[in-house]
Amino acid sequence: MMTSNQNLQGFLVNILVLHSFYLGLCLSICTINITQYLRDPATLWCNDNLFKLGFFSPGNTSNRYVGIWYNFSETTVVWVANRDRPLKDSSGVFKIHKDGNLVVMNGMKEILWMSNISSTSQVNPNSITAQLQGGNLVLFDNSNNGKLIWQSYQHPSDTFLPRMKIPINSVKTGEKTGLRSWKSPLDPNFGNFSTSITAILPQLLIWQGKNLHWRSGQWNGQVFIGVKYMRSVHTGGYNVVDDEEGTVYLTGLVDRKEVTRFVLDPSGNLVQSYWDGSERTWKFWWSAIENDCDVYGTCGPFGSCNSLDSPICSCLRGFEPKNREEWEKRNWTSGCVRRKNLQCDQEKNKTSSKRDGFLKVEFMKVPNFAQWLPPKLDDECRSICLSNCSCLAYAFDTGIGCMSWSGSLIDVQQFQGSGTTLYIRVAHSELDHHREITLLAILVILLLFTVCVGVFLSWFWISRRRGKIWFHFKRNHQLEGKKISLEENVTKIDLEDLPIFKFEVLAMSTDQFHENNKLGQGGFGPVYKGVLGDGQEIAVKRLSTASGQGMEEFMNEVLLISRVQHRNLVRLLGCCIEKEEKMLIYEYLPNKGLDVFLFDQTHKGMLDLSKRLHIIEGIGRGLLYLHRDSRIKIIHRDLKPSNILLDNDFNPKISDFGMARIFKCNQDQAETRKVAGTYGYMAPEYAIKGTFSEKSDVFSFGVLLLEIMSGQKVASFWNEETSLSLVGYAWELWKENDLSNFIDPVIWNPNFEMVLTKCTHIGLLCVQEFARDRPTISTVLSMLSSEVISLPAPLQPAFANFYDDNIGGSVNYVTLTNLDGR
Ligand SMILES: *[C@@H]1O[C@H](CO)[C@@H](O)[C@H](O)[C@H]1NC(C)=O
Ligand SMILES: *[C@@H]1O[C@H](CO)[C@@H](O)[C@H](O)[C@H]1NC(C)=O
Ligand SMILES: *[C@@H]1O[C@H](CO)[C@@H](O)[C@H](O)[C@H]1NC(C)=O
Ligand SMILES: *[C@@H]1O[C@H](CO)[C@@H](O)[C@H](O)[C@H]1NC(C)=O
Ligand SMILES: *[C@@H]1O[C@H](CO)[C@@H](O)[C@H](O)[C@H]1NC(C)=O
Ligand SMILES: *[C@@H]1O[C@H](CO)[C@@H](O)[C@H](O)[C@H]1NC(C)=O
Repeated sequence: MMTSNQNLQGFLVNILVLHSFYLGLCLSICTINITQYLRDPATLWCNDNLFKLGFFSPGNTSNRYVGIWYNFSETTVVWVANRDRPLKDSSGVFKIHKDGNLVVMNGMKEILWMSNISSTSQVNPNSITAQLQGGNLVLFDNSNNGKLIWQSYQHPSDTFLPRMKIPINSVKTGEKTGLRSWKSPLDPNFGNFSTSITAILPQLLIWQGKNLHWRSGQWNGQVFIGVKYMRSVHTGGYNVVDDEEGTVYLTGLVDRKEVTRFVLDPSGNLVQSYWDGSERTWKFWWSAIENDCDVYGTCGPFGSCNSLDSPICSCLRGFEPKNREEWEKRNWTSGCVRRKNLQCDQEKNKTSSKRDGFLKVEFMKVPNFAQWLPPKLDDECRSICLSNCSCLAYAFDTGIGCMSWSGSLIDVQQFQGSGTTLYIRVAHSELDHHREITLLAILVILLLFTVCVGVFLSWFWISRRRGKIWFHFKRNHQLEGKKISLEENVTKIDLEDLPIFKFEVLAMSTDQFHENNKLGQGGFGPVYKGVLGDGQEIAVKRLSTASGQGMEEFMNEVLLISRVQHRNLVRLLGCCIEKEEKMLIYEYLPNKGLDVFLFDQTHKGMLDLSKRLHIIEGIGRGLLYLHRDSRIKIIHRDLKPSNILLDNDFNPKISDFGMARIFKCNQDQAETRKVAGTYGYMAPEYAIKGTFSEKSDVFSFGVLLLEIMSGQKVASFWNEETSLSLVGYAWELWKENDLSNFIDPVIWNPNFEMVLTKCTHIGLLCVQEFARDRPTISTVLSMLSSEVISLPAPLQPAFANFYDDNIGGSVNYVTLTNLDGR
């Protein structure tokens, strides 16, 4: 009785389920076997799966397709079955056919798509089951230990999903698998673009029909070396894996918490995006083609592309445009040709002292069609290339070994701060030419130097005469009893060298302080650009008459900065005090502040890694001079990116001494009731108790260092997910050993991981909570300059949570929150 009842129940359920599908009710089932099928609009879905399979229409078109999409975003289709043969109505059926194939059929029982399981595989259709496993539609044989018969991951559409494995065009089967773009965003039909991977020195390629459209550069075991900001596989990039069974495949996107995918879009760009759950949208993460330089062969053979140059194309050194007329019209297709023939071509068997040589070009995307040579050493690579006349260039990558090129060098790109060093073979005379230029440059520099010394001497002589007047003024000023800190130091200071400018001269040079000449607004007044009669460019800071504290800061700055001279400190050229006017005259720096470059998406590319390291070191040297090397000890108190000015060569110069204080030789710290500075850069002991010292400057330096490494502004940084400040975020990622997420993508390069790690490490040492734990600036500089060094582990930093970019305001409170509550 019992059993027959159960049978009956089972029977009824079966009838119900089947019936539902016949009726096309919007039900989901988890698997399909030969007796079941999906009828539009039913879906295939198992509990908790991120993906669903079913029928869809792109946009508001009427065509119906069978596809897989995200459970949470129905419009994001990752795979399509009947791409080229849409269903014209809602009579579509998705089922397992009697031969065991998955098929899409229309109402007329016409097969629009089938899975094409190989006819050789002996399968029993009755035991075949289809299921969606993640985004992968799999067909397996239940009677044969669930043997996999077919899977959609091996027949991708335009989307590359985590854990998908795209095999490198298998030599065994000759099968080609890769992504194929949609025709348009509303038409899943086969578009013009496809991807493939080459087998030897694996490269990921995008094709437009039969023409190469983009290439990733060679795989070096960790990254594709032609991709500018390549993430390692653990931080959301690709990986090329050799399964040791004859298949090499591309995989990736593992180990990420985010939902992320790569799509080959209808315009031929490969775009990586991730799902932002809180805003319910896809956010851009990375794309293969960012500008024309990324398009294959833009500059033709022997041309080199640099997206920051205008025009973007130039010939490689030693080469000239093949057709100058075309080239000047920015048609670069014909590329460049060699200027001087190679020795090798002319007299192959004479030994000559005038042998060819190599020109070294750094930070390159190296050309296509590399040949791989066995040598494991750089020098060997060079001599093998030199000894073979058809070898035109070589490059050495520790992960790959020796690469050489013959024929032509195509798709070469100049990167900033990342990439590979390429050695290009040129005739001996080209090398000479190079030397001549260097010699000439040295001569010119020598000449300029002599002129400069002459000018300086005469300026020195004139200014000495002016300085005397100023000196008297200053003495009188002091007698009036103005509050100038540490008077005894002041009296030791002689200001003989500081020229005084006339108000009219400055007014004229700045065009009556015209708005157009305004460079910016400092804490105590606007700064103008001026040009003196002799053409010298100057920056004039005009202290606002309204500001009551102006005089004190003014005196402070004059006294301080006229005493210090260092190439990493901005130079004071003179001052002006007339009537109510107080002005400071500085050298003019065309590149403005560090903040202008560092925090601006369009400019930050100009600060590559080497420039940033140079800037960090320069700031450190300037600070060391203030703390230790000048005759007086000075605490700057307001170190931040906008107070770091950059000259033409990106040499940093510390500016704005309005808040700086002089210490006595043996003084270590001081206290003030008027805490002034900028939130985010202030050390906790200074913000809370008003205690300042060398170590509070070191703290600001540490914040600055972390900003330079991450390209993020401390004042505006706020990580939504983790509720962390920049310093806190750096600390969390440091503990997780996840540097790549912290470093500015513009300078991130796994090859330089050591130096990136070191700088972040030093930054964290500088922002430690207790002043006594922080290194002095001289220790910081030696840490920065030594190649290998074991640094102490940083202790937890002070997490200031409350930021405000308010210059010179006095602080009432600063909230310090210990986020790491353990
Ligand atoms: C939707 O349909 C309307 C009219 O049929 C058309 O004008 C519009 O462009 C379509 N929208 C999309 C996104 O295809
Ligand atoms: C299956 O094979 C047929 C015939 O070889 C071919 O026309 C069709 O495109 C194939 N379908 C798929 C999805 O590969
Ligand atoms: C694809 O190629 C065809 C023929 O070459 C061309 O007509 C069409 O515009 C191309 N489509 C896209 C999206 O580039
Ligand atoms: C560029 O130059 C090539 C080679 O001479 C020529 O075939 C092509 O038509 C030119 N393209 C344009 C846009 O002028
Ligand atoms: C070397 O020179 C001789 C004659 O000078 C010539 O016959 C021979 O072909 C040359 N060899 C090569 C490799 O060019
Ligand atoms: C020289 O280089 C060419 C191209 O790379 C290669 O085909 C040839 O075998 C090399 N010759 C020798 C002697 O190594």
